Amino acid sequence: MRRLLYSLIALTAIAFVSCTSEKPKYIIGVSQCSEDIWRNWQNSEMKMEANFHEGVELHFAAALDNSERQIQQIDSLVESGIDLLIVAPNQIKNVTPAIDHVFEQGIPVIVFERKTDSRKYTAFMSADNYEMGRQMGEYIATVLNGKGKVIEILGLKGSSPADERHRGFIDAIDGNPGIKVAASLQGDWTEKAGYDAIMNYTGTLDDIDFVFAHNDRTAIGARKAWLERKGRLPHFCGIDGLPGENGGIQLVRDSLLEASYIYPTRGDQLLQTAIAILEGKPYQKETKLTSAIVTKENANVLLLESDEVMRQSERLERLNLQANGYLRQLANQRIVTLMAVIMIGMLLLLFVFIYRYLLQKARLADERNLLEREQLEFYTQVSHELRTPLTLIEGPLTQLAETKEMKEAGADASGLMAIVRRNTRQLTELINKMLDAQVKSDLINKDRRQSSSQQTETTKGNDMLTTIHEVAEPKDASQQATILIVDDNADIRAYLRNILQLNYQVNEAADGQQGLALANEIVPDLIVSDVMMPVMNGLEFCQRVKGNLATSHIPVILLTARAMSSQQIEGYESGADAYITKPFSADVLLARISNLLKSRRLLKGLFGTDSEEERTKEKNAKAPQQPLTEKEDGFLTKFREFIEKNLADSDLGVETIGAELGLSRVQLYRKVKALTGQSPVELLRTARLQKGRQLLETTDKTISEVAYEVGFTAPSYFTKCFKDEFGISPSDLS
Ligand code: FRU
Repeated sequence: MRRLLYSLIALTAIAFVSCTSEKPKYIIGVSQCSEDIWRNWQNSEMKMEANFHEGVELHFAAALDNSERQIQQIDSLVESGIDLLIVAPNQIKNVTPAIDHVFEQGIPVIVFERKTDSRKYTAFMSADNYEMGRQMGEYIATVLNGKGKVIEILGLKGSSPADERHRGFIDAIDGNPGIKVAASLQGDWTEKAGYDAIMNYTGTLDDIDFVFAHNDRTAIGARKAWLERKGRLPHFCGIDGLPGENGGIQLVRDSLLEASYIYPTRGDQLLQTAIAILEGKPYQKETKLTSAIVTKENANVLLLESDEVMRQSERLERLNLQANGYLRQLANQRIVTLMAVIMIGMLLLLFVFIYRYLLQKARLADERNLLEREQLEFYTQVSHELRTPLTLIEGPLTQLAETKEMKEAGADASGLMAIVRRNTRQLTELINKMLDAQVKSDLINKDRRQSSSQQTETTKGNDMLTTIHEVAEPKDASQQATILIVDDNADIRAYLRNILQLNYQVNEAADGQQGLALANEIVPDLIVSDVMMPVMNGLEFCQRVKGNLATSHIPVILLTARAMSSQQIEGYESGADAYITKPFSADVLLARISNLLKSRRLLKGLFGTDSEEERTKEKNAKAPQQPLTEKEDGFLTKFREFIEKNLADSDLGVETIGAELGLSRVQLYRKVKALTGQSPVELLRTARLQKGRQLLETTDKTISEVAYEVGFTAPSYFTKCFKDEFGISPSDLS
């Protein structure tokens, strides 16, 4: 999973880099021999065409009519890693070897417009320079009506168009015997060369009728020189016929030139051929570009056309720029989308990773808990099995030792008894230690959680210690509190009965269910119950005792082998009032029982008889009193309110009150007695007498009226009871 995450991150990085830095598909080097408007025009045509092909990059170089420089530039272009070379060689001889070398390296080469003297090129493209020279010669002859003198100004020496244009021109003149070539002056394609040629011309200018320069720039240079020399102005013509401002077409229209010849640039076609070569598509190896002469007759139309073409080109360029902008935006959006998708993918993976990790952790924790629980069950079981018999040995032994017979049996017997008791105790301790060691880790873990609950337990334990020796003296049966023992082990029940029967009335049940039925029936003063029992365990039993109104007030002691603090907490959570672990000491149990019974808060003065003296007595009592629970408090309030409301009813008795509160007669009696120390009947009478006294003291009613009003059927009986209750006669108050 982690490896997957790392690969995803690496992938993201690669995707990001490849998205942001796009490598061109093809790099095309363009080596121009010169830099002038004809070349610029051609270069811009190539750039425009490149826009239509994705991933094409153009690298331009201009040699400024210097062959050495061009050779160097070609070398640098190759070094920069071009995929194809387009070249217009400055001069045939000097530049050819450099071009051949490029071709030999396997780089495709397109030679255009000017020639080399080798066939080592992939494609060649040019107009027919010989034909141009020839047609210009014929044109001049026509304009001069076959008679006149002409000066020719040549292009750069050694460049193919200069040679070819010259040959074509001379061939045409040779066919017109009336036309004479006064001079063929050397130029180099520049305006300055035309100017210099005329300025330096030593012959007479006056009889010259026409000047044919090999290009328009040179013709204009010659014209300027002519004007300076103030000779008779002849006709001038050149070649190139470029569109636009100061291009050859405009010069013809404005009569600065007599004629020109369109020398096609066709940068677009050049680049198309280059891309076809690079993509391995079919292409034409030799291309002859068609052309036409520009004269006054067609100059205007050509200019209009070329202007329109230029306008369209500009629009196209603008559109192209716009499109490029959109494409860039699109590319950026693509990067953002890609990144977002990758991020979402990574996040999802991360979530899955975390989720699986947590799931595994939870599963391990579950397994550990299960193991702990099983361990705990096992040790609890073992502990229960061992502690119960130990209790039943140790307890009776202690009792036996205290018997008169044993005391009289002499030193030998009591010595032997002491040995047995000592060893029993030792065995108990050993078992405790063994079990404790086994469950130590459980205890450490769980005790951390339960430290607070333990504090409560310690407090309870301390209470118990303070009263440990205050075991109650035997009482007669009518005074004795009733204790219900619930345990599935008959020996334990017998042993407990043995311990308790001296001071208490004892009832027994063998499991929680039986215990519950008996508790409901007899409503004992206290319950001692085991926890691990069949049918219904002690925890559920305790919960149900506390959940039932008839028995909720009864203190419950859980007596069990479940010694761990977590188990004790479970016990207290089920509502137990005390938790004693086996093996237990009979003294401790008795002390705990006595303590619980004493600490019951008897709510005296339910009907206003609680004296100050009694309240102080209660406060100073040795055993701290348990506050009434909300449930018991609520019960007593209901009980009191019902009696107060129905005082006048002489038939009001325990049956009616019990029915109202949902308790049987016995249950009502036992519960009320347990909570207040008085029977419901006594409380009812007290309530009647209290109310009667109040009426006598605050109203003018007669004793009889009052007696009936508080539910007595005979005023004489009211008077008797009144005297018994308050020590005075009602007539003393009326
Ligand atoms: C441009 C140019 C043109 C001429 C051609 C000859 O660089 O000088 O004016 O017609 O080259 O190659």
